[in-house]
Amino acid sequence: MKKVLVFLMMAIMACSMMLTGCGGSKEEKKAEPAKVLRVGTEPAFAPFEFPKEGSKELTGFDIELVQAIGKQMGAKVEISGMGFDALIPALNAGNIDVAIAGMTITEERKKAVSFSDPYYTSGLIIMVKKDNTAVKSIDDFKGKRIAAQIGTTGEMKSRSVEGAKVTTFNTQDEAALELKNGGVDAVIGDLPVMEYYLAKGGSQFAMTVGEKMEAEQYGIAAKKGSKLVEDINKAMAELKKNGEFDKIYKKWFGEAK
Ligand code: ARG
Repeated sequence: MKKVLVFLMMAIMACSMMLTGCGGSKEEKKAEPAKVLRVGTEPAFAPFEFPKEGSKELTGFDIELVQAIGKQMGAKVEISGMGFDALIPALNAGNIDVAIAGMTITEERKKAVSFSDPYYTSGLIIMVKKDNTAVKSIDDFKGKRIAAQIGTTGEMKSRSVEGAKVTTFNTQDEAALELKNGGVDAVIGDLPVMEYYLAKGGSQFAMTVGEKMEAEQYGIAAKKGSKLVEDINKAMAELKKNGEFDKIYKKWFGEAK
């Protein structure tokens, strides 16, 4: 009981010291330090996040979206790159405030983090060698060798294929390279990323097969229960209203949402 009292008194003293320190009147109030939004991403995921050609600076749909959200919130955006499977631990450890990484909103992840409103509709697709005309759908991959990016929904889907031998890679590109080198029979990953990869030269050796699997929604993740989610949703809603969101969307995907 005594301890509680002492603590309370100290707290009151600290508060009053802070108040007098601030001077009270409005004119004397110092400008608030600029807010910083610490953003984590896995930056080898074009067209969502990837380095600008010949530079370390990142670009892509997610990057421009989070920059615009930061601006809307009056925060300076600081982006750091890390492994995709390191993003949720980094959020939980408080090393980053939010993660934007083409991250699918899943029930499993929702147990660990909070997600913003969805901002992009995606799905999974299978990529094989161009000459592999024998396969038509995921059912043809039972017992086959499949590559995926570690910690992704693509990995989860691969592991659901009966008897499949699944190899994981740190990036989507490395998984694709393994296909090129003949180390696996297929890659399972996000459709828009595969399409971009094929369009940027991958179609010389690869193609997608079958239909888009699993409708997935991307969301911005924050620490579980974080109040930031609300601010982000508000900022995003404003960007949708003022046309900025559509502008960024069109730039990367060619058509308005
Ligand atoms: N959408 C998939 C997932 O959430 C893959 C995301 C990978 N993102 C990245 N930046 N590498 O599991």
